[in-house]
Amino acid sequence: MFRNRDFLANRAGKLFIEGVNSETLAEKFSTPLYVYSETRIRSNIQRLKNALQKYIPHHQLYYAVKANSNLSVLSIIRSEGLGADASCIAEVELAKRVRFSQEKILYSGIYHSDTELQQGLQHKVAFNFDALSSALRCLKFGKPPLFSMRVNPGMGDGKFSGLVFAGPEAKFGVEADDAVAAYRAAKKAGVKRFGLHMMTGSGVLNPKYFPAITAKLMEIATRIVKEVGIEFEFIDIGGGLGIPYSPKEKPLPIDWIIKNIAKTFTAAVKKNKLGNPKLMLEPGRYLVGDAGVLLTKVHTLKRMYGKNFVGVDAGMQTLVRPAMYGAYHEILNASDLNQNKKEKVSVVGPACENTDQFAKGRILPKIVEGDLVAILDVGSYGFVMSSQYNNRARPAEILVKGKEARIIRERETLSEIIGKQTLPKYLQK
Ligand code: LLP
Repeated sequence: MFRNRDFLANRAGKLFIEGVNSETLAEKFSTPLYVYSETRIRSNIQRLKNALQKYIPHHQLYYAVKANSNLSVLSIIRSEGLGADASCIAEVELAKRVRFSQEKILYSGIYHSDTELQQGLQHKVAFNFDALSSALRCLKFGKPPLFSMRVNPGMGDGKFSGLVFAGPEAKFGVEADDAVAAYRAAKKAGVKRFGLHMMTGSGVLNPKYFPAITAKLMEIATRIVKEVGIEFEFIDIGGGLGIPYSPKEKPLPIDWIIKNIAKTFTAAVKKNKLGNPKLMLEPGRYLVGDAGVLLTKVHTLKRMYGKNFVGVDAGMQTLVRPAMYGAYHEILNASDLNQNKKEKVSVVGPACENTDQFAKGRILPKIVEGDLVAILDVGSYGFVMSSQYNNRARPAEILVKGKEARIIRERETLSEIIGKQTLPKYLQK
């Protein structure tokens, strides 16, 4: 039932998240509720670290802050010694807030504005540019401590078409020619430390993709090293490691993947005399995705035109992935895990959109009004993509560790929905 998610358990039909009864959490903190398992986050990190340590000790593991930027989650990740990949200045600031050292923050903006470039320089963090223009504009303002280009190696992969981040259809990165021009300019401007980066897609479950795309990046690295005469401190192959969302999917063979990435990487470094770069990875989903559960209460059952609808209090504003990508998330009846009777149902939210359906016509164990439902694998791109659409407050977030559950973000209130709006005087009459 829980497949490889060892932090979930069935105790007398109730879903336990680590040592905590999900129904107790729902009663205490109300629903919808995001719950994260600290133990699972740490064990995901450990699994990846072990493989890296085994095959390529000269590595650097970063975490893509955007995947889940709750400060407590970031603190856990920092305490495991990872660096932070920040996609904007706010993420640089969040990383600093939880004491990631400046040296361990990579600022990978997209289509940077001049203001962002200047703020990044003030933060004295390593820069990763995704356009020649941004790199050249930045050099006019100052020298970043480390200069990296995000290349588009001409191919990509991703769970959904919108998650393919490289290749001819993608907006990200630069072609090799622009990368060469950017590194030349940086070298001329006196920059001494360099990295190279790609991020070619997200949610990839094809193990062979990772060594294949690494080989592509190593060709580009070789060209840059030869033509510009610089050495790379790191070569960053990005994130993208997928997790199995549906029971049909299998977890990635991480040991095999790292072994084969390392083989490709090490051989290219040696053959092409690329110096001593670290292999860098910056996953998000792989570290936190399966460690999150969304708890939501069933309020209304309805039968209409032969279909059964299960109305829950989470909606697309709480978890947008199903509405946005058609993403599959496993759904459990957390109140009644031993229920044997099955029914075909659609699990739907309260938002005024017909895409607001977490499952359509799925066979699930019988659910009744008042039950608590758990939507799995929401630790990445869950809360961070939530919104206030339909003027619904964003949910609370809970961190579970053993038998302890701690609130790490309070549920929003009406005043946060109103936010910073002002009503001009003449409209107040
Ligand atoms: N590095 C960069 C520069 C990125 O843009 C991303 C994710 C990552 C690393 C981490 O990728 P991961 O290991 O998590 O695949 N909203 C989508 C996912 C978008 C990913 C955006 N970039 C989803 O819900 O599946």
